[in-house]
Amino acid sequence: MSNISIPITKTTQSKLSDTDFSSLVFGKSVSDHMFVADYQEGAWGDFRIVPYGPMEIYPGNATLHYGQAIFEGMKAYKNEKGEVLVFRAEANAKRLNESAKRMCMPTLPENVFLEALKQLLSLDRDWVPQGKGSSLYIRPFMFAMDNYLGVKPSDTYRFMIFTSPVGAYYSKPVSVKVETTYTRACEGGTGEAKAAGNYAASLFPALLAQKEGYDQLLWTDGKTHSQIEESGTMNVMFKIKGTLITAPTHGGTILKGITRDAVLQLAKDWEQPVEERFLAVSELEDALTKGSLEEAFGVGTAATIAFITKIKVNGQDYLLPEPKPDAFSKRVLLELDSIKYGEIQDPHQWMLTI
Ligand code: COI
Repeated sequence: MSNISIPITKTTQSKLSDTDFSSLVFGKSVSDHMFVADYQEGAWGDFRIVPYGPMEIYPGNATLHYGQAIFEGMKAYKNEKGEVLVFRAEANAKRLNESAKRMCMPTLPENVFLEALKQLLSLDRDWVPQGKGSSLYIRPFMFAMDNYLGVKPSDTYRFMIFTSPVGAYYSKPVSVKVETTYTRACEGGTGEAKAAGNYAASLFPALLAQKEGYDQLLWTDGKTHSQIEESGTMNVMFKIKGTLITAPTHGGTILKGITRDAVLQLAKDWEQPVEERFLAVSELEDALTKGSLEEAFGVGTAATIAFITKIKVNGQDYLLPEPKPDAFSKRVLLELDSIKYGEIQDPHQWMLTI
């Protein structure tokens, strides 16, 4: 699909001057416009950019009943020249389509995704905050639109993108609890899809952990609960005796994180030893007991690099020291930020300039 025409209806009531860019809370503010596309009779069309606002759906909307809904998370940054840079947009366009296939939804041509993104960000470029630590979070998503109660894949869908200026998702290092009762994903399930239902299923166990004083869970495999998979809002990495260890993503249970992929690429560039393998809960416990766990951190779009400060395993809390400035997690955060804010070369062509 080429020459995509996207009519724009501009807002007459911009919220820009009412938004306090000095104290951005993740997900609270939304920018002025949104992109909308509808899928009907086997094709995407009716592309438009309109003011962000409510939309009408029928009570029988299939998403509300059977949960065909997927999403992406990405970020745009502003460099010193005021240009807008988006991190790894093509990877998100591809991953959306992988999720779509798993959830029996139509794929969206990548050029539609990218063109919509470019036009939306060009229009709302003043919403991209300037300054380290803040960015414009971008939320592309797709959901079923049929007004029909039979259980079947919907025939109609909507794809949308809206954006939100944000600060840090986690404002301080996080505490996590190894979850061995509840399951996030199991083989053959939907774990690797960025499906809304995966997040819904995680809320109750996460709430229980939060009541105990932990920020997040470390999910374990659904069958034996004996190996670490990922955390609630991010992939997770450990450095033990000099080696970076993170769960492999080919088994269908773990989200193929784009930040995870970027961190592994930088580790490779720096000749940092890496093992993509499952870390057993017993191995984690052993490393914590013996003091050989050097670093633990989450990696994700919203979370960026989230340092882990406390881990509960088998009823026991272990505290992790603050990473030193030369720690891998610190260096990788600095390098990624420098690339994202356009301060250094972008050797892997990750940034799309709008
Ligand atoms: C992201 O990191 O973009 C996510 O989608 C995680 C979460 C905010 C749901």
